[in-house]
Amino acid sequence: MAGIRSSVTRTFGILTAGGDCPGLNAAIRGVCRAAHDRYGMNIIGISDGFRGLIEGNTKTLRPEDFSGILTRGGTILGSSREKPFKSEIGDSDDMVGEKAAAIKKNYKKLGLDCLVILGGNGTNTTGYRFAQEGLNIIGLPKTIDNDIVGTDETFGFNSALSIGTEAIDRLHSTAQSHSRVIVIELMGHKAGWLALYAGVAGGGDIILIPEIPYDIKIIGDHLRDRAKSGKTFSIVVVAEGALSIEEAKMEKRDRKKYRLENGPSVAYRVTREIVEETGMETRSTVLGYVQRGGIPSAFDRVLATSLGTAAADLLAKGEYGRMVALTGDKIGSVELSVPEGKVKTVPQDHYMIDSAIAVGTCMGN
Ligand code: F6P
Repeated sequence: MAGIRSSVTRTFGILTAGGDCPGLNAAIRGVCRAAHDRYGMNIIGISDGFRGLIEGNTKTLRPEDFSGILTRGGTILGSSREKPFKSEIGDSDDMVGEKAAAIKKNYKKLGLDCLVILGGNGTNTTGYRFAQEGLNIIGLPKTIDNDIVGTDETFGFNSALSIGTEAIDRLHSTAQSHSRVIVIELMGHKAGWLALYAGVAGGGDIILIPEIPYDIKIIGDHLRDRAKSGKTFSIVVVAEGALSIEEAKMEKRDRKKYRLENGPSVAYRVTREIVEETGMETRSTVLGYVQRGGIPSAFDRVLATSLGTAAADLLAKGEYGRMVALTGDKIGSVELSVPEGKVKTVPQDHYMIDSAIAVGTCMGN
C-alpha cells in the first residue's frame, strides 16, 4: 500500500484490563489508527482483558471499529480484573497455570507478534510476567489513580479529577446551607493523588490521604478553629485508602479486620470519628464509580492519543517489553518491569501538600 511505513510487527492483539477509566477508547483509537493507517498492521481486539485471551474471545478490528470512539467513556473492548498468574478464591494452582498456558497458546494461535495491554499496576505486573515468559508486550498506563511508576501522569486521572472537583464544589453549597461538615470520599486505591488534587482544586478544608496518617484530634481542632472563626461549614476530602495514625500502626491483618467491623468505607469511619470528637453535624458522601464514568477530558484525550500513537511506533520498531510514558513534556517509554505491589504514591515533600497547607488546608497531621 502506498504511503505505508515498514513495520517489524505485522499482527498484534490489544486488550484493556483492570478498572476502566475515561480515555481508554481514545488510546485504543490512537494505537489502532496509527498502527493500521501508518504501518498497515493487523489488529486483533481481545474482549474483557486477559479473560478474553484465556477464552479465545477475540475479533479482528477494522477501521470502522475504532472510528468515532475518541470521546466515548468506558472501553469498546470491555475489561475484567482477571489476573492469570493470581489465584482467585476457589482456584487451584493448576487452574492458575492453565490460565497462563491458555493465554500463551492463544497468543500463538492468533499469530500475534505482540500484545498491547492498557492497564494499571496489576495489568503491568501480569504483562511483565508474560514478557519474562517470552511474549512480546507493550503497555499503556491507564488509571484514575495516577499511581503507575514510570509515567508522570496516567490517562483517566485528569477526567476523574474534574469529576471529583465538581462534586466538592457542589457539596460546598449544601454544606453551607445546613451548617454541616461533609466528608467526601474519592477513589485512588492506595495513593492520595486524586483526593489531594481534587481537594486543592475544590478548596477542601481538610484533605486526608494514605501517605499521611491522620490524627482525629488534629482534625477536631481544625474544625473547631474554623467554627470559632465564623466558618459555619467544612468539607473533608478523604482518599479511599486514607488511614488514622492508630490504623497505620496495626498489622495488615488487624487493619483489615478493624475496617470490616467499622463501616463500609473510610468516609463513614471518619464521619463517625468527627461526630465523636466534635459533636458537629456531619454527613458522608462516597462518590464511587461516577469518577470512572463518562467522556474523557480534553487533556486525557490528548494524552491517551499521544501514548497510543507512541505505542504504535514501538510496535513498528519491534521495541517490546516497554510501557509508553509521559515524562515532562515528552512522550517516550520505560522498561516494563513493575514489581508486584509497587505503586507511585504522593511523596511527603510534594509541592501540592505544601501548597495545600499554605492556603490553610489541614492534612490531618
Ligand atoms: O484502579 C481504579 C479503581 O477505581 C480504584 O480507584 C478503586 O480502588 C478500584 O479501581 C475499584 O475497583 P473495582 O472496579 O474492582 O471495584
